[in-house]
Amino acid sequence: MGIDLNMERLANIRTPFYYYDTNILRQTLDAINAEIKKHDNYFVHYAVKANANMKVLGIINEGGFGIDCVSGGEIEQVLKAGFPANKIVFAGVGKSDWEIELGLDKDIFCFNVESIPELEVINEIAAKKGKVATVCFRINPNVGAHTHANITTGLAENKFGIDMQDMEMVIRLAQGMKNVQFKGLHFHIGSQILEMDDFIALAHRINDLQDQLEAAGIKIEIVNVGGGLGIDYSNPQGNPIPNFKDYFAVYDKYLKLRPGQSVHFELGRAVVGQCGALITKVLYVKENAIKKFAIVDAGFTDLIRPALYDAHHKIVNITSNTTETDTYDVVGPICESSDVFDKDIPLAKTKRGDLIALLSAGAYGEIMASSYNCRRIPEGYTNEELQ
Ligand code: LLP
Repeated sequence: MGIDLNMERLANIRTPFYYYDTNILRQTLDAINAEIKKHDNYFVHYAVKANANMKVLGIINEGGFGIDCVSGGEIEQVLKAGFPANKIVFAGVGKSDWEIELGLDKDIFCFNVESIPELEVINEIAAKKGKVATVCFRINPNVGAHTHANITTGLAENKFGIDMQDMEMVIRLAQGMKNVQFKGLHFHIGSQILEMDDFIALAHRINDLQDQLEAAGIKIEIVNVGGGLGIDYSNPQGNPIPNFKDYFAVYDKYLKLRPGQSVHFELGRAVVGQCGALITKVLYVKENAIKKFAIVDAGFTDLIRPALYDAHHKIVNITSNTTETDTYDVVGPICESSDVFDKDIPLAKTKRGDLIALLSAGAYGEIMASSYNCRRIPEGYTNEELQ
């Protein structure tokens, strides 16, 4: 059973809004914990970029997870939500000085460093503070992922990470610095990855790099494999919990660890994707010679994934109780032709005032909302608040 879209709960709230089913979220967290508790050296840092809603964060924190941040704002938000600073990993190609200072002041677990100039700045700022920053290097593993071009990150052409051939040199550089301590390697090959072969390829690449470093006498404590596990956007109700079993089994089976090493994961979408839906109201149904448009009150300012990545979110009419269906383009009110959620999709016969749910919107939904056209940022509610 997927997300519970109980109409009575949802009927009287100003639309559009995000709705989170905390039962799905808790089941998801339990499924992850069931896999990682098989290992005392596996740690999941939830990638807060996927969803930073305070209520969602509170539940993830209760699950005992660490956190992956990519900005000072995210660090502030997760500290407010109660996450311990010593479980924060901090990534990003362009960390500002104030963000590095914040990470140092809070004694975060680790900086995932993406370039030599960044390493030098962290060392400098840490020296001023009389601190030693723990650093891992984000290595670009040149492993492709079968996903949308805008969300693949592990190829040499992408801006992320340090080239493999420079890895040893950069580690030596860090080892010569007083205010950074090199602890390990960080990788991330992309997002919405459903082919386990992509993660297997990453594990093999990490094994090769580890052999190389071992031969050079370099010790690694932390292996951070990033995130990227995808979710089922086409059948979210039938498949609400991602395939964590197979995902973690890849690393169990293929990643060769040395004694004392820990493995860190940065899952975002797979944690929160299926627990959220965007709820929107039908303003008008407009027909022309060839189309029926369901014009809804949400637009790409509320959920940008279809416009930005050609993403398809399952759309359902949760008000209509007729079995009759029709074919609609579901479109928003924003003055741009890309403000289309989907085209030619079957929906129960739809009329003004019906509520429409866009499913699998818990990840990269609310957090990517903007106020373009001076629109309001949507609120987010959980089922627990709307009892
Ligand atoms: N770690 C790093 C270094 C990342 O860059 C990301 C995501 C993650 C972890 C979490 O990845 P996940 O497990 O969620 O796939 N806005 C896009 C997705 C962008 C992903 C950016 N990086 C979307 O809506 O599809």
